[in-house]
Amino acid sequence: MTDTVFVSGELPGDALEVLRESFEVVTGAGVGSPEFAAAAPRVRGIVAMLTDRIDDALLATAPNLAVVANVAVGVDNIDLAACAARNVLVTNTPDVLTEATADLAFGLLIGAARRIAEGDRVIRAGGWTGWTPGFMLGPRVFGMKLGLVGFGRIGKAVARRARGFGMHVGYTQRNREVEPLERVLGATYVSSLDELCATSDAVSIHCPLTPATRHLFDAKQLAKMRPGSVLVNVSRGAIIDEAALADALEHGPLAAAGLDVFEDEPNVHPRLLARPNAVLTPHIGSADRPTREAMASTAAANVVSVLEGKPALTPVR
Ligand code: DGY
Repeated sequence: MTDTVFVSGELPGDALEVLRESFEVVTGAGVGSPEFAAAAPRVRGIVAMLTDRIDDALLATAPNLAVVANVAVGVDNIDLAACAARNVLVTNTPDVLTEATADLAFGLLIGAARRIAEGDRVIRAGGWTGWTPGFMLGPRVFGMKLGLVGFGRIGKAVARRARGFGMHVGYTQRNREVEPLERVLGATYVSSLDELCATSDAVSIHCPLTPATRHLFDAKQLAKMRPGSVLVNVSRGAIIDEAALADALEHGPLAAAGLDVFEDEPNVHPRLLARPNAVLTPHIGSADRPTREAMASTAAANVVSVLEGKPALTPVR
């Protein structure tokens, strides 16, 4: 009998056709859809979006489920313990999105510091009356001290870009990298987040969302950032307390923020919407076409492999 796979959202590229070659494919708008509910008892695989909450209650409706392939590297939308308890394998899409996400982090850093989106709005609103030396000044990007919170694949890819901008890169994470790697990437280990915040002109967040990182940047932490500094987040919105961030953008110490992710997507805190010094993008970190196609085909390949009884390509451990 053909296995059933539920695909929870649009898959760029040919991943859907690949799945259809081997399985009965049911599509629907998320795991909350009636299509999922109808197929759940026979579903063997789910190709999940990061907007799907995969928890024990959902798993209970799908007793034949063998694999959840998340079309994302982040898996904070999935209860990993519940999956393990029910012998459901979870896979994600690491590596393929590293460069695209680092590109966007860098774009947001420059955009926020150099007020690019704000300048665009000023022109369109007819607010530009001519060049003057003091108009729309911002922090200097070239040569700035950049602090990276998390130094995994994406953090390291940002560090590589920073070299071209003559930046001094510091990073903090639980374990220090080996010295030769630090040398190649031109990055210095900073043992605490407080020190990283106090010494960086810009801080960019590249750690996963976990109970330990939820609201890591709260009012207390934001107050430790340098006056006139910039905060960038392309990881997960809930790492920052958005109300506290709005305060820090309004009253200091921050000059600007570049945000691709939000606590309650697609809703954005109204006080952030009102801040001209916040550059906001709609969770498009991995949204270059080849990257999204590669994410979709990685998820599909994981499902094919697991349902054929082979090891997953990119299991979450
Ligand atoms: C991820 O993969 O976790 C990203 O947020 C998707 O863009």
